[in-house]
Amino acid sequence: MLDNPTPDSAAQPSADDSRRSFIKQAGGLLGLALAPPLVSQAERFTALSKKVEGVSEMRLKVNGSIRTIQAEPRVTLLDALRERLDLTGTKKGCDHGQCGACTVLVDGRRVNSCLTLAVMAQGKEITTVEGLAKGEDLHPLQQAFIDHDGFQCGYCTPGQLMSGVACLTEGHAKTDDSVREWMSGNLCRCGAYPNIVAAIREVKKSGFKG
Ligand code: FES
Ligand code: FES
Repeated sequence: MLDNPTPDSAAQPSADDSRRSFIKQAGGLLGLALAPPLVSQAERFTALSKKVEGVSEMRLKVNGSIRTIQAEPRVTLLDALRERLDLTGTKKGCDHGQCGACTVLVDGRRVNSCLTLAVMAQGKEITTVEGLAKGEDLHPLQQAFIDHDGFQCGYCTPGQLMSGVACLTEGHAKTDDSVREWMSGNLCRCGAYPNIVAAIREVKKSGFKG
């Protein structure tokens, strides 16, 4: 006995159609993956991520407050801070982990926020440069930067401050050489390095423990 076709069987895709559709989608993704070098690796990654991932809610504890954002899992902590939470003190320099301008503290440890996914920072204490001062009272290192001219254009300064605070609390500020070594991930195009070291030295001498 022959089976009667279901009334809407004509609308169902055939196995061939499904195979063609699958090959088209896979080809699209493959095309992105194999795009010529004119398209940067980061742009290809972003394009691929957009195709396969959606927006979700994230809760971030920043400078003591819980903040909720809607973001894709691919969003970096740097972009979440700057573009979703308007915390623009943290700077984007290279966006590739090379300059330190984006340094923030996560559970007291410094990280390059451009290389950290926001979703991975959930449930952790995030401290940005906006969280250093207590009301009108500057953090001792902020004051020392002013006293020692630790900046010129100021673009690298938030990252230098966050890294400097960590350098002090980690116990790496015992000598100028040690400070230079442990601050070497933070670049300053204005060349304020001697003044930055002087500022950290002064805070260390004052007995600051963090
Ligand atoms: S912006 Fe993150 S290291 Fe340069
Ligand atoms: S103060 Fe200008 S880059 Fe450091």
